[in-house]
Amino acid sequence: MSKVSEIATTFVAYLKRPDLYPELRRKIWKNIFNRSSGLRGKEEAEKWCKSIAVSEKDFIENILKINFVPFEKIFPQEYENALHLQEKTPVKMGGAGSLSVIYYINEFAKSQNSIETGVAYGWSSFAALASLVSRNGTLYSSDMPYVLQNQSEDFVGCVIPEKYKSNWDLYRFADKESLPKIFEKTKTFDVVHYDSDKTYDGRMWAYKVLWDRLRKGGVFMSDDVGDNAAFKDYCEQNNHKPHIIEFDGKFAGVIIKE
Ligand SMILES: C[S@@+](CC[C@H](N)C(=O)[O-])C[C@H]1O[C@@H](n2cnc3c(N)ncnc32)[C@H](O)[C@@H]1O
Repeated sequence: MSKVSEIATTFVAYLKRPDLYPELRRKIWKNIFNRSSGLRGKEEAEKWCKSIAVSEKDFIENILKINFVPFEKIFPQEYENALHLQEKTPVKMGGAGSLSVIYYINEFAKSQNSIETGVAYGWSSFAALASLVSRNGTLYSSDMPYVLQNQSEDFVGCVIPEKYKSNWDLYRFADKESLPKIFEKTKTFDVVHYDSDKTYDGRMWAYKVLWDRLRKGGVFMSDDVGDNAAFKDYCEQNNHKPHIIEFDGKFAGVIIKE
């Protein structure tokens, strides 16, 4: 598909979704006045991540002080079912990060209320909910559907076990619309997991509003922090001491709020 027809197809797909008009306006504005900030500072961010990264096992055992058993070994049946469900799905969506880290940060914080941005198949939601349901807690999720895939909306969260879904509250808008709606329901959170808009500017906006609503002692996590310098800059500007975890050749950043 040529660039022009790709832009035209995306535009038409957005026009069919009035709930996503605010995001369409922002995308047009960004494309005219502020070209994509997806890769801003990628080289320095990757170098920084590599220099301080640890494995998920080391993070869970040395920082969270919890004995590490991989997530898929704790929930083998649910995990197998989830893999089958994903295989049967006719649409291709974004993949999972470290399910173990997501599960254990919820355990560490004894989370009652967690918030995540970016659901797709729902692997991260599955991991967070596996911990939350044991305390009858709630996961609030923000996810803007893939506009170019008509059917994708039907499969958002498809790998989440049915028995967890009564503890799950999903908002199907862009974060700029979803987050204010979620904050009307719950003011503070024990765990934040960011995995949606990966541009530099998107992260910088969301990191601040999410951090402000994280309780002291709570845990903040962002995926793919080597993609650009947003997480590094955010930590440096605010004097946060992050942990970087390498998993599957990618980097996740975690900050425990002091
Ligand atoms: C990488 S996937 C999420 C993967 C998921 N956390 C997991 O572990 O399985 C990113 C998701 O974020 C959504 N997304 C992208 N930009 C967004 C935005 N501005 N607001 C809300 N969701 C967004 C995408 O449509 C996609 O569903």
